[in-house]
Amino acid sequence: MTFEPVEIILKDGRTAVLRTAQIADAAEMLAFRIKSLGQTDYLMQYPEEMADYTIEKQLNFINRMIESPNDKMFTVIVDGKIAGTGQVSFNNRIKTRHKAGIGIALLKEYWGLGIGSAIFTEIIKTAQSRAGVELLELNVIEGNERAIALYRKFGFEIVAEIPDAIRLKDGTKLKEITMQKRL
Ligand SMILES: CC(C)(COP(=O)(O)OP(=O)(O)OC[C@H]1O[C@@H](n2cnc3c(N)ncnc32)[C@H](O)[C@@H]1OP(=O)(O)O)[C@@H](O)C(=O)NCCC(=O)NCCS
Repeated sequence: MTFEPVEIILKDGRTAVLRTAQIADAAEMLAFRIKSLGQTDYLMQYPEEMADYTIEKQLNFINRMIESPNDKMFTVIVDGKIAGTGQVSFNNRIKTRHKAGIGIALLKEYWGLGIGSAIFTEIIKTAQSRAGVELLELNVIEGNERAIALYRKFGFEIVAEIPDAIRLKDGTKLKEITMQKRL
């Protein structure tokens, strides 16, 4: 879905804009995704796993985000560049349409500036205005304290922990934690 841009002031005084992704973002968004995957172990892929993900696929993804009534993706622009994205996904299935899923990733140079909080404020507003949605749900990897702090700040609580769900390249096994917020 598309939406009116939202302007926010970051903790360092700069302005960021949360806006709908555009077709023209495709190449930069692909580069952003690969870069962000290389900056943390707490996302669900390694950057090389994007090797066959083309600009065309990225473009199709953006188109889907624009056209889908069930997905709202916030693209964050700082100083004219993509700093991150956040997404809320609803669905129409009778058994699960009371729930929405969330994903978020920012480039490292933009962590700790309040962008995560701004995205969550918008996601919660969006979910609250959608009839029938009662529950927000997300998964986070054990050790991602910054993310867990953000989610707790917005009222999410840990409801499940899956042991050994994640295995890093060096063999480290980590839990996957599910957090929920009731609206
Ligand atoms: C996790 C992430 C989305 C957080 O976004 P952010 O913009 O850095 O978060 P904010 O600046 O809004 O900070 C939110 C809260 O986290 C807490 N926080 C900030 N830095 C922290 C740190 N180093 N450790 C623990 N908590 C921290 C603060 O309580 C802050 O709230 P406050 O501003 O009211 O004090 C971002 O760091 C990121 O993209 N990380 C890499 C990708 C990732 O892990 N995605 C999530 C996958 S589940």
